[in-house]
Amino acid sequence: MKKFAVIGNPIEHSKSPEIHAAFAQQCGIDIEYVRLLADREQFAPTAKDFFARGAGANVTVPFKEDALRFADELSEAARLAGAVNTLSLRSDGAIVGDSTDGIGLVRDIRDNHGCSFTGKKILIVGAGGAARGVILPIARENPESLTIVNRTQAKARQLAEHFSAYTEMLSASFESLDSAFDIIINATSASLSGGALPLPEAVFSSQSFAYDMMYAATPTLFMQLAQQRGGSCADGLGMLVEQAAESFFLWHDVRPHTPAVIQRIRRQLQN
Ligand code: ATR
Repeated sequence: MKKFAVIGNPIEHSKSPEIHAAFAQQCGIDIEYVRLLADREQFAPTAKDFFARGAGANVTVPFKEDALRFADELSEAARLAGAVNTLSLRSDGAIVGDSTDGIGLVRDIRDNHGCSFTGKKILIVGAGGAARGVILPIARENPESLTIVNRTQAKARQLAEHFSAYTEMLSASFESLDSAFDIIINATSASLSGGALPLPEAVFSSQSFAYDMMYAATPTLFMQLAQQRGGSCADGLGMLVEQAAESFFLWHDVRPHTPAVIQRIRRQLQN
């Protein structure tokens, strides 16, 4: 039986083992998938030890950059994201690093929520690792433009430059935003601390779709802001399942169905 793991710190609350077990059952594949706690300074030895027997690993906070350095080869998505969330042992023994977060976000918004990026004005709020990790797959959907807004504006500018070869990239300060976007994505960690973002009301309209990469049992403050302006919104639970589905596809060459798994995790969250 092939062995897989999710490596992080902390790791006990990770839903990845359950999600991958559900996919494996659905696809009739036997796998072992465990949680692996690594000490903060010990990612590489922990991963090396695991890959003596393991076939693939997901990597979560705080090790996505350690995983980037650990991989022998990187996909273009991982290189541009500056992070790896999926490690795969290739038949020649090389460990390949990939980033599936961005594809997960695009699939959730486009396929599960029926909201196309093509020809749309997109706003990404935040310019940290979470934002960087999702820009390339969004750019590949051919939006009209992709604007980055961040509290520290220099980081928004840097990120816009980093991806400028892929689509029309713009950066902005919160105060300068005075018109509506079609899709607004919260990639800040503000929801975690319960903090409100200084987003002008003008960015939301009744036609906007707002997506919080965080997820919770009840709508986040960011989602509430979008709802107050009459637009639709969603949290990032679907992205969690979709990024897992893409990792599953990389490892098993089979694409699992995600809606039932998303519903199951949602029900657990609300109980
Ligand atoms: P991650 O890897 O989750 O993206 P990060 O790299 O620390 O974490 O980035 C966190 C992001 O959330 C940053 O864009 C940060 O803004 P700054 O670059 O100005 O620090 C943003 N952020 C966090 N809390 C925020 C808040 N209360 N208001 C606005 N932005 C916030």
